[in-house]
Amino acid sequence: MTRVVVVGAGAREHALALALSHRAEVIVAPGNAGIAAHGIACSGASVASLDADLVVVGPEQPLVEGLADELRAAGVAVVGPGREGARLEGSKAYLKDFLAAAGVPTAAYATFSNEAAALAHLETMTAPYVIKTDGLAAGKGVLVTSDLEAARADVRDKLSGSSFGAAGTTVVLEEGLVGFECSLHVLCDGTRAVPLVTAQDFKRVGDGDVGANTGGMGAFAPLPAVSAADVEAIMATVIEPTLAELRRRGVDYRGVLYAGLMIGPDGAKLIEYNVRFGDPETEVLAPLYSESLFALLEATATGELVAPATPAGAAVTVVVAAQGYPGTPRRGDVIFGLADNGQLATPVPGVNVYHAGTARDAEGRFVTAGGRVLALSAVADSIGHARERAYAAAATVSFDGMVMRTDIAGKAVS
Ligand code: AMP
Ligand code: GLY
Repeated sequence: MTRVVVVGAGAREHALALALSHRAEVIVAPGNAGIAAHGIACSGASVASLDADLVVVGPEQPLVEGLADELRAAGVAVVGPGREGARLEGSKAYLKDFLAAAGVPTAAYATFSNEAAALAHLETMTAPYVIKTDGLAAGKGVLVTSDLEAARADVRDKLSGSSFGAAGTTVVLEEGLVGFECSLHVLCDGTRAVPLVTAQDFKRVGDGDVGANTGGMGAFAPLPAVSAADVEAIMATVIEPTLAELRRRGVDYRGVLYAGLMIGPDGAKLIEYNVRFGDPETEVLAPLYSESLFALLEATATGELVAPATPAGAAVTVVVAAQGYPGTPRRGDVIFGLADNGQLATPVPGVNVYHAGTARDAEGRFVTAGGRVLALSAVADSIGHARERAYAAAATVSFDGMVMRTDIAGKAVS
């Protein structure tokens, strides 16, 4: 049996590992307490030492650091681009220059490391103001605000290095895009590109999209507002020009290209690329593609990618987070409602519990150990039914300080 190593430690990796385990032997490196409890092997050993036939890299950091290059040099098939391809996510300033060269529609922008110049540029912009750190900031380095004073303060904080250290000492000031967001995950085998169904992520911490940007508080798929023809148009205007520019630059991109798009009155514009699976989007995509995921990812790494059948049904995931997230979360609270295998003590049909930040205490109980704690994911025949199941599941788990949004996929069903 093919041995697949999934790199990472969160709910995304739990979802990938569970789907892949139907067709392959799976080890998650390093994994977490909830993945291990679910009967999936976890290992703290180095990826190179695990003798994998196929490696699927979850987070961006190891890709930016060149893990895929090292593994490929050793003859291992990898889902994830090398260091050069990963720059699409690793540097926003690089991305913006790349998109201009490729002719991909995106927000107008300018890059600054000088505070006075950045503040002067801000005065010439109209609200909403979008201020981004240049480097990796785990989805939390972006401020979108209509308050000019708050925008000025954020520019000063970021450029002084006080909010994101070295990652923040170059800022990108961007035109605010309007519309609704869509996450399109495209598998690329170096030649062919195949889109998965569309998904939407809920980034703000509070209901009604208020409060701080987080890593994601929930997701659903597919988006009823985006048709198959719309996806074809996005492939033609955004993805194909990107792949052509990658080829022009000599980059053999084998992995997931996740386009964060704003769909507005004049079509889709790219907000950002991620060079890996989204989190929490994977918690809805993996269960939908559970039957075909292994074949798809193996073909992504080795070539001969073929478009999969569009999965039937829909999926919704609700993230339960610890008080304080996306700032410093409280930790160590006992989680109620989970069985010994980390799944629901009171099962709800179609639901998987994917563990993000959990650990086990001395008595073997699951406790909180991170900002995002669990992703409660449901599949069903419709978004409405999946949503009911995900929230029914959420109602059976609890811990002190538990935070969740109550409006995940709400608009899609109303
Ligand atoms: P990013 O880290 O680039 O994905 O940005 C995080 C979130 O900020 C996005 O998912 C959007 O909700 C928002 N955002 C980023 N850039 C823009 C923009 N130019 N216009 C409007 N919203 C944006
Ligand atoms: N869902 C946002 C991300 O994975 O970056």
